[in-house]
Amino acid sequence: MTILALETSCDETSVAVVRDGVVLSSVVSSQIKMHADYGGVVPELAAREHLRNLMPVTRAALREASTGVEQIDAVAATQGPGLPTALLVGFKAGQGLAFALNKPFIRIHHHEAHLYSPWITGSPPRADFDSFQPNVSLIVSGGHTMLVYVEGELKHRVLGGTIDDAAGECFDKTGKLMGLAYPAGPIIDRLAEQGNAKAFDFPRPLLNDSSDDFSFSGLKTSVRYFLRDNPKLLNDPQAVRDLCASVQAAIVEVLVTKTIRAAKRLGVRCVTASGGVTCNRALRNELSIACKRNGFLLRLAENNLCTDNAAMVGILAWRKLLLGVQPSDCDADIAPGIQLA
Ligand code: KG4
Ligand code: ZN
Repeated sequence: MTILALETSCDETSVAVVRDGVVLSSVVSSQIKMHADYGGVVPELAAREHLRNLMPVTRAALREASTGVEQIDAVAATQGPGLPTALLVGFKAGQGLAFALNKPFIRIHHHEAHLYSPWITGSPPRADFDSFQPNVSLIVSGGHTMLVYVEGELKHRVLGGTIDDAAGECFDKTGKLMGLAYPAGPIIDRLAEQGNAKAFDFPRPLLNDSSDDFSFSGLKTSVRYFLRDNPKLLNDPQAVRDLCASVQAAIVEVLVTKTIRAAKRLGVRCVTASGGVTCNRALRNELSIACKRNGFLLRLAENNLCTDNAAMVGILAWRKLLLGVQPSDCDADIAPGIQLA
């Protein structure tokens, strides 16, 4: 079974070819550099870039997989959530292709695809569902922060999410206050390496709250006030490294503590994480330490599968077809605000 998968929910145009659970190709064209000039993703520009890039990226994915369109058995695309104009490009192109080839079309929920990306490993990457076990999954990126109980394959329940900013947004916005380029997450990660995480004390929002929800806007505001009261600090490179390490430590502590607490409460033996912020080395490190201490198996998505990609879309589509989920209509609409159940 060969699946062509498309992902255009935000600022990455990605196309993958997945055959029987193996990712034969996953081409990602990132628009980060273009949006960096504006300090964030501009939806209209994102849509135009997707339009410009989708065909070349599709051709590249097929070429890399040595696959012709006549070998495609099904087409999958991200239906939502995401930017409406961006989603439209990949979703409608996918439906058009499925219709033209007279093959099934599978609509994919972007967050559900993230849930299974930690199970894609190796070279070439392949889905390792033989070792799948119930888990608590942390999805953290610029647009989403949530904890999900994955009881079984295709069976999940959202435990909580952010009530304001996403964790990646917090990295990006606090970085902006420090004068760092967009997206600031990877820059903070790098600067924090030589910083003292205990130098400055920032709040850990909702850390002791019994819910599985997150809130990061208060942390961002406290950094804003801190910089207002210490304006000269930004002239001292070591103080900036300390600030990065301290902010990062606050975000990471909240994410790790709440993930572990949820996993313990639900009695699972496995924790997974995905989404752009899962590239953060402190988060990866602290999650591994906490999981080891508490006896949980930890599955972190590989870095190139943390950020948005079509490989996870194709793998989930393959799994859905295998487990008997019915394909969707070729005229279904995008669902920009669709929530994970
Ligand atoms: O998943 P993603 O590519 O896009 C969506 O938001 O859906 O995630 C991008 C986010 C940005 O906020 C970026 O700053 C953050 O992930 N990010 C990181 C790191 N790499 C990416 N945050 C902290 N440390 C990193 N190493
Ligand atoms: Zn995402």
